[in-house]
Order: sequence, then structure tokens, then C-alpha cells
Amino acid sequence: MVKATDILDEQPILEVKDLQTSFFTEKFEVKAVDGVNFAVPKGKTLGIVGESGSGKSITSLSVLRLIQDPGKIKGGEILFKGENLLDKSEAQMRKIRGNEISMIFQEPMTSLNPVYTVGQQISEAYMIHQNMSKKEAMLRSTEMLELVGIPSPKQRVKQYPHELSGGMRQRVMIAMALACDPELLIADEPTTALDVTIQAQILELMKDLQDRLGMSIIMITHDLGVVAETCDYVAVMYMGKVVEYASVTDLFKNPKHPYTVGLLNSLPRHDVDLGDVELNVIKGSVPSPDNIPTGCRFAPRCPFASDICHEKLPHLEQSEEGNQIRCWIYTDEWDGDPEVNVNDQRST
Ligand SMILES: Nc1ncnc2c1ncn2[C@@H]1O[C@H](COP(=O)(O)OP(=O)(O)OP(=O)(O)O)[C@@H](O)[C@H]1O
Ligand code: SF4
Ligand SMILES: [Mg+2]
Repeated sequence: MVKATDILDEQPILEVKDLQTSFFTEKFEVKAVDGVNFAVPKGKTLGIVGESGSGKSITSLSVLRLIQDPGKIKGGEILFKGENLLDKSEAQMRKIRGNEISMIFQEPMTSLNPVYTVGQQISEAYMIHQNMSKKEAMLRSTEMLELVGIPSPKQRVKQYPHELSGGMRQRVMIAMALACDPELLIADEPTTALDVTIQAQILELMKDLQDRLGMSIIMITHDLGVVAETCDYVAVMYMGKVVEYASVTDLFKNPKHPYTVGLLNSLPRHDVDLGDVELNVIKGSVPSPDNIPTGCRFAPRCPFASDICHEKLPHLEQSEEGNQIRCWIYTDEWDGDPEVNVNDQRST
């Protein structure tokens, strides 16, 4: 069995092992996260990348144990600093959330409360987790707004979410997530809704804060351009599974999984505009949850698919170069073209 920690040079702060999260609808079970493994080293950034519906958000919500009915974490381990979060009580989880692990959610507007000022909302974290007085908490909130680059923080702290631009609201979300100096920050598409300049500024800000505060980050994105800019390691997800997991250098230099190659091909040749990258050049679309392929999940769209691919699900294997890949091509059981080279398909 390959271990996610095998490819790390550093100690992990988080290790997710064989995580399984499903939604139980009336007719069938949607395996949103289906045996996922990855690890996040201390002070580094792991990117989780994949098309819409691949299970990125459900993976991160599972880490924080925020899955709601009809969803359920069915199995696996979530080791945070060596302790399994799945064994914690709800009260223990409440202490961990926002204190040791924080999250920037995919929908900034739904995660900010419209009836409270941004100062009141950031202050809450300080009052709950650090027992600060209201006055002290408001002072710290103002400092935090300054840290995330919001101009005139003393005025802004008294404003309501609707009085701020999208970019500023996103900064407020980051300020809230960082309020208690988390050891791990999970950022779910933190910049997707923003225009390109603001996007670049916010990513830079997160990197800068990471350098200063030493936190680890999980960066969830559908955009390999963002991964290249910000991540140290990357897990590529497809239909609830990690199909390739590697250091960013290895992944860009020597991608192995046909899906990864497809994603890389969707990047513009001279990528400057991070905002316009769409993952739509891979032929076909993700099968619906009631029609999961029996073999490799990617087989219906894969240009290399051979007999075995349609029959059996490949397991995750460690390559000599360091990538972990879930694809029959890299096993002794491969029954297709023995000379196959996935990178021949590469256009970038
Ligand atoms: N409440 C729910 N009920 C049933 N299925 C769900 C529910 N929430 C999520 N799913 C399913 O779980 C799968 C993974 O969803 P998830 O939100 O993690 O995708 P994602 O990778 O974050 O996509 P996106 O890039 O669009 O944010 C999807 O197939 C989705 O349909
Ligand atoms: S296992 Fe087969 S179908 Fe799946 S990605 Fe590899 S070659 Fe393609
Ligand atoms: Mg999502």
C-alpha cells in the first residue's frame, strides 16, 4: 500500500487516509469522496484540483466534520497532528474549527452574516476562542483587516458586508479565517469569483501570511494556473478519487495520469491570465453518479483506455519519479500498447 506521506520531504500536519464520504439519496448512494488519501506538510501548501463535482469541497468539509444530512463520513482516518478527527466529540471539533483549522468557504456571501458588521463577525472568533473582551476583540479585528490589506480598516470594521466590494468581502473572509492563527487553513476556491488582478493580490497575500505565520494551507481550485503559483504538492481528483498525487514540480515536469495531462492541456500555452482557464478541453463529461463506470472512472473519456481499464479499478501506485498514480498504464497488468507515452498527448 502506498502512503501519501511517502512523497513528502517534511512532517505532515494532516494526513487523510482512505476517506469515504457519501450522500444517500432515495435511489442510490453518491460516493462523493471515495477512498481519498493525501497529506499536508507543515508550513506548506497542498493543492486539490479537479473538475466541478470531483469531490473537492466535500473532502474539505469532511476534514472539518461539517458534512450534513443526507451526507455521511463512512470511513477512513483524518489524522491532524497525529490524532484522528473522526474520534473527536462535537465539542472537541468546535474547539478545533476556527482555532486550529480554519476554512475559507466557496461562497463568501453566504458565509458572512448580513446583519452584523464585519468587525462584529471577526470579533466573535476572538471572543469565543481567546476569551477576549469585546473592546479588545474589536481592536484585534481592525488590525486583522489591516493585515489582509483593507484600506481604512477603522472605518471598514464598522461596515456591513453589503457595503464592501467582492474583493474586500473575500479579504474579510480571509481575516476571519486567520483570526485565531490557525495551523491549517483550508481555502475552497478563494479567488474564483474575483477579477484577475484582485485574484493575484489575494493569492499573494495568502502566501505572504503563510511565510509570516508558518501555517499550512489546502488550496482547492479547478485551476492548475493557481496550483503552479501557490502550491508545493498537488492532489488531482476525479470522481471522488485521487488519480495523481505529486510535488508540484514533478506534476508539471512529468505528469503521468491521462486526466492530469488533459488538465494541463487546458492551460493556455503562455499562461498569464489566471482568470480565464477553463477545464473544458477534455472530451466528454463526468458520468452521472447513478452511472459510475465499473473499471477506471476516467475510462469513458480516456484516449488510452484498454480492456482492463473498463473491467477493473486501478489502485494507487508509487512511480520511481515520485508521483503516485491511479492508472493501469503504470502497472504490470497493462494490456494496451506497451510503448504508450501519455505525454505524447501533451500540447503545452
Ligand atoms: N447535498 C448533497 N446531496 C447529494 N449529492 C451531493 C451533495 N453535495 C454534494 N454532492 C455530490 O458530491 C459530489 C462532489 O461535490 P463537491 O461539492 O465536493 O464537488 P467540487 O469538486 O467541490 O465541485 P466544484 O468545483 O463545482 O465546487 C458531486 O457529485 C455532488 O453532486
Ligand atoms: S486506467 Fe486506463 S482508462 Fe484509466 S486513466 Fe489509465 S489508461 Fe486511462
Ligand atoms: Mg466545490
